Amino acid sequence: MRRIVTEWFRVPRVWPHVEKHLAGLDRPLVVWSGGCGTGEEPYSAAIMLEELGIPGRVVATDLDEQLLAIARQGEYSRRNITLNLDERRLTTQQVGQYFDYADGRYTVRAEIRQRVDFAVGALGTDQPPQCDVAFVRNVWRHLGAAVQRRLAAQVHECLPADGLLLLGGGDLMTQDPITLELKEIEPAGLSQYFAESREHELIWRPREG
Ligand SMILES: C[S@@+](CC[C@H](N)C(=O)[O-])C[C@H]1O[C@@H](n2cnc3c(N)ncnc32)[C@H](O)[C@@H]1O
Repeated sequence: MRRIVTEWFRVPRVWPHVEKHLAGLDRPLVVWSGGCGTGEEPYSAAIMLEELGIPGRVVATDLDEQLLAIARQGEYSRRNITLNLDERRLTTQQVGQYFDYADGRYTVRAEIRQRVDFAVGALGTDQPPQCDVAFVRNVWRHLGAAVQRRLAAQVHECLPADGLLLLGGGDLMTQDPITLELKEIEPAGLSQYFAESREHELIWRPREG
């Protein structure tokens, strides 16, 4: 199986901004995790909604059915959980509250799992769900420029004017493998449809129109 890098509450500093944003919206909410990998991102979003007491849902899509099968199972190794334990990320209190532990495995509890719908979905091809916040993180660089442009347009269309697009660090920065120098990059079409927010460089807001 293909190995991917993902984390619980990845980039901890962005989550409080998302929480603040969602807490101010007075409607049933949908969070989309596009390129959700093994599920850590959508389950983190579901834990966030649960803790906010918001009757929201998470739609999680990925191209890779094997990764989706792991995500649906919602079962993680002790190493996965302990590597992510951090008071700004997955806290010991959250692990106790939202996971069951047995035989060295942590399983996401039903109240969190039932907030998340997993489905196969190709970014830039399949229509994304209508949502309030779109996590499309650490996947843009794997797409060609034409697909990036189409994806930016599609995400813009699926978000309301007050929606948020969350990017990953790897979507805006790359490291030269030889010189190890960091270089800024930008997905094609991103700035045509979105503007960087004042809150955080990885949070982008839809442009009007
Ligand atoms: C590095 S992981 C990122 C996981 C998570 N978003 C995060 O930031 O922690 C990239 C994920 O994007 C998925 N992916 C790559 N190309 C895709 C495409 N064209 N459509 C949908 N998913 C794709 C991969 O299968 C993988 O699960």
